[in-house]
Amino acid sequence: DMSLPKAEKIKLDETDPAKVKLGNGADVKGTRVRVFGRVHRERKQKELVFITLRDGYGFMQVIFSGILAKSYDILTLTRETSIEVLGELREVPPGAKAPNNRELHADYFRIHDIWKAAGGEEAITNRVSKDTEHATLLDLRHLTLRGEHASKVIIVRDAVEYAFNQVYRELRLRKVSPPALVQTQVEGGATLFKFHYYNEEAFLTQSSQLYLETCLPSMGDVYCIEKSFRAEKSLTRRHLAEYTHIEAELDFITFDDLLDHLELVMCRVLEVTMADPVIKQYIIDLNPEFQMPERPFKRMKYSEAIDWLVEHNIPNEDGEPHNFGDDIAEAAERRMTDIINRPIFLTHFPVEIKAFYMQKDKEDLRVTESVDCLMPGVGEIVGGSMRMDNNEELLAAFARENIDPSAYYWYTDQRKYGSSPHGGYGLGLERFLAWLCKQHTVRDCCLYPRYFGRCKP
Ligand code: 4AD
Repeated sequence: DMSLPKAEKIKLDETDPAKVKLGNGADVKGTRVRVFGRVHRERKQKELVFITLRDGYGFMQVIFSGILAKSYDILTLTRETSIEVLGELREVPPGAKAPNNRELHADYFRIHDIWKAAGGEEAITNRVSKDTEHATLLDLRHLTLRGEHASKVIIVRDAVEYAFNQVYRELRLRKVSPPALVQTQVEGGATLFKFHYYNEEAFLTQSSQLYLETCLPSMGDVYCIEKSFRAEKSLTRRHLAEYTHIEAELDFITFDDLLDHLELVMCRVLEVTMADPVIKQYIIDLNPEFQMPERPFKRMKYSEAIDWLVEHNIPNEDGEPHNFGDDIAEAAERRMTDIINRPIFLTHFPVEIKAFYMQKDKEDLRVTESVDCLMPGVGEIVGGSMRMDNNEELLAAFARENIDPSAYYWYTDQRKYGSSPHGGYGLGLERFLAWLCKQHTVRDCCLYPRYFGRCKP
C-alpha cells in the first residue's frame, strides 16, 4: 500500500537501542536492539514477512508484521539489500528454527534508496547459482564470496592463519618479513616470474627460505607468512601462481627434530583452530568426516614409497613401474596418499630431484635429509629439509645446477661466517585448507586466486 507512511518518517531516538552484530550475544533475548545487515533470504506470508539478515558475524531472523509487512520497501525488498532494523529479540516459538534460536520482531526499519540491490534478471541470485560454471564463478568471485560456502572457507582461513601465529609464538619463533622482490631463485628457474626492476632484472620470490636462514644467528628460530610466486604453466587443482607460504627455519636441530616440530605445529594449529566453536562448526559443515590426524604421523622413506608404488601397480609418468630416482608425480603421490589415508612424512628424496640447498644424508649420500608432508585428498602440503651447512659443498651444488653463485653471496656468507646445523620447511596455506575444508581445489581456498590465465578480479 503506497499510501502508508515511509518508515523513515517515523521519529527515532538515535541513542536507543544498542547496535549489535548479528552473531554476537547468542543469549541476548527479550531486549530491544538495533541491527544492520544484508538480506540473505526472504519469505513472504500473508501477514508476515520473514527475512534472514547477514553481516559477516552471523545471521538473524527478522519478522515484519502489521503495517511494516505491508510497507512498500518491505514488499519490494530484494536480496542483498542493506537494511537497518530495530525491534525486540525473542526466543523462537517451540518447534520453529532460527539462527541462535532467536528472532527479531521489527518495530522500525530504514532502507536508503542507494542500499537497494538489483532484483529481477539482474539479481545476484540470477547471476550466481549452483549450475554456474566454475570459471564464471571465479569471474564473479566478488559476488560468490557473499555465499555461505565461499565465505566459510575464507573465515576458516583467517582462523588457521591466526592459529599459526599463536602456535609459533608459543614455540618461541619470531616473525620476520622478508622481501618479495628478489634476485635469487630457490625452487628452480622454470617457475620464476621475472620483471624489470629499474635497470636490472629481478624476480618475484618463490620462497623466503634463504632470507629466513640469514636471521638465525641473531634472532633464533624464525618464521614468516608471506606470498610466494610461481609461474606454473600447468592447470592443476593444487597449483597457484600466487600463494600464501608459511615458512619456518630452526637452528641447531637434527632432521628428527625437524619432523617432530612439524608434526607438533600442524597438530597444535588444528587444536587451536578447533577450540573456537564457530570455526569448528564451519569446518564440520565443509568437511563432515574431518578427524584430527593420528599421531605420530606415518614416516616413510622415498625408497620405501618407490617399492610401495611398484607393489601397488601405480606407474610413473611414462607408464612404467617406478624406479629409484624417479620424481613421484602428482597423480601417483595422491593415489598413494589416498590409499594409505593418513598424513605421511615422505623423507630422504634423491639428491638429483631436490633443490640445491638440501643437506645430504650422512648414511646414504644418494639422498637428502628432506621431507614432504602428504595429506589425503591433496597430496603434498609441506616441503622441508635440513640445509647444507658446508660452503664448499654448497658451491659444488650451485655448479651442478648451473646457478651463478655471485648473486648468492649473502647466502654463502652464512656458511663462511659461522655455519650451523639448521633446517626448515614451507607449508602452502591454500593446500592445508583444501585438506582441512575438503575443497576440490586450492583456487577456492584464497580470496582471489591467481593461476595460469587468470589475474582478475
Ligand atoms: O616444496 P616447495 O617448493 O618448498 C619450498 O619452497 C621451500 N623453499 C620451503 C622452505 O623450506 N622454506 O614449496 C613448499 C610448499 C609446498 O609443499 C606446497 O604446499 C606449497 O608450498 N606450494 C604451492 N602451493 C600452491 N601453488 C603452488 N604453485 C605451490 N608451490 C608450492
